[in-house]
Amino acid sequence: MSITTLGGTPGTGLDARNGAGARSPLFEPARLGPLRLANRLVMAPMTRNRAGATGVPEPIMATYYAQRATAGLIIAEATTPNAVGATYPNIPAIHDDRHVAGWRRVTDAVREAGGQMFLQLQHGGRVGHPETSGIHPVAPSPVPLPGTIFTPSGHRESVVPREMTEKDIRATVADFAAAARRAVDAGFAGVEVHSANGYLLHQFLSSATNRRTDGYGGTVDNRIRFTVEVVRAVAEAVGPERVGVRLSPGVTANAMEEDDVDAVYPALVGALRDLGLAYLHLVFADPDAPLFRTLRAAWPGTLIANPALPWPGPLPADGGRAAGERLLAAGADLIALGRSFLANPDLVARLRTGAPLNPIRDAHLMYVGGETGYTDYPALG
Ligand SMILES: Cc1cc2nc3c(=O)[nH]c(=O)nc-3n(C[C@H](O)[C@H](O)[C@H](O)COP(=O)(O)O)c2cc1C
Repeated sequence: MSITTLGGTPGTGLDARNGAGARSPLFEPARLGPLRLANRLVMAPMTRNRAGATGVPEPIMATYYAQRATAGLIIAEATTPNAVGATYPNIPAIHDDRHVAGWRRVTDAVREAGGQMFLQLQHGGRVGHPETSGIHPVAPSPVPLPGTIFTPSGHRESVVPREMTEKDIRATVADFAAAARRAVDAGFAGVEVHSANGYLLHQFLSSATNRRTDGYGGTVDNRIRFTVEVVRAVAEAVGPERVGVRLSPGVTANAMEEDDVDAVYPALVGALRDLGLAYLHLVFADPDAPLFRTLRAAWPGTLIANPALPWPGPLPADGGRAAGERLLAAGADLIALGRSFLANPDLVARLRTGAPLNPIRDAHLMYVGGETGYTDYPALG
C-alpha cells in the first residue's frame, strides 16, 4: 500500500534523546465518551494479515495487541463486515460467530493487560479480488483499481467491480450495523467506520470512483450519503458514543483522486457533527493546512489526528512525538501513531523516557503471517 498526501507537510520531528521529556500533553489522561484513557496516544489501525484464511483472528493477534496495551487506545486493524468486503488475504472479519470468538480472545488479552480497544470496520469495495474473497468485488461504479492487487496466489490484475445496486447499498449498511453489534459482543469498546484510504466508503466520496447518477452520486450531498448512512446505522446499532469515523481528505492511497476536498469534507463533517459520535479521526493531519483547521472548528467532539510523518519512512527519531505535540497545540485531542507502535510495543514508555526507538525492520513482513516482524519487537528490559 502506498499513501501520499496532498499538501501535507511531513513532520520533521525532534530527536527523542534531545527534545523529549516526561512532561508532555501526550501523557496526560483523557476521556473518550465513557472511557478514561491513560494517555493521549492511540495506536492507529494497521492491517497485518495474521488472521486465518476465513478471517478468524489467530491467538498470535492477542499477543501482539496485548503487548501494545499501554496505548491510551488501540484501534484494531481493518476488519471486514461481510464476505465481499474482504480486501487482502488473511485480513480479519467480523460477520459470524467464529470471528466473534476469535476477537474475544484478543479483547480479553488486551483488557487483562490494562488496555482499551476499538475495531476498525472496513469494506474494500474495488480493493478486492475474487481469488481472495471468492466473490466478485462491488463498488459505487465499475471503475477498477489501477494495476494489480495482492491475492492468495500472488499479485493479480485488478478486476472491474460490479456497480452496487440500491439493494446492495441497503444490505451493506445493514452489514456494517450487524458487524458493529458483533464487535461489541466480542468485547470491543467501540468501532471505527473506515471512510478513508481508498476503500469502499471513500470510493463513494470521490467523483473519480463514484460516477453514479442516482441519489448516491453526482452532487457532494449525494456522494457523502453512503458514509452518513453507514455511520448512522452503526451508531443506532451500538450507540453513538461507541462509534468513530476515519477520514483521509486528499490522501491518494489505492489510487484515489479527489478534486473537491474543500467541499466534500466540511459537508461530511457537518452531516456527522450532531450524531454524538465518539470521535473523528483524520489521517495524515497537517496542523498548518487550512482544511485541518476548518474540520477542527467544525467538529464539536474528540478529534484524533494521525500526523503526516514521512511515507514511506524513515520515521523521525522521536517516532512522531513532536508532530503529535504540534497537532495537540492546533486543537487535536488524541494522537494516533502507526508504524512507531508497530515497532515499539512499549512506545508510550519510550517516548516518556526519551529512550531510543526500535526501527522498523523487515518491512516486507508487515503484511505476511508469523511472529517475525510482528510479536518479536523487543520492549525495554
Ligand atoms: C502495516 C500498515 C498497515 C496499515 N493498515 C491500515 C488499516 O488497516 N486501516 C487504516 O485505516 N490505515 C492503515 N494503515 C495506515 C495507518 O493507520 C497510518 O495512517 C499510517 O501508518 C500513518 O501513520 P504513521 O506515520 O504513524 O505510521 C496502515 C499502515 C501500515 C504501516
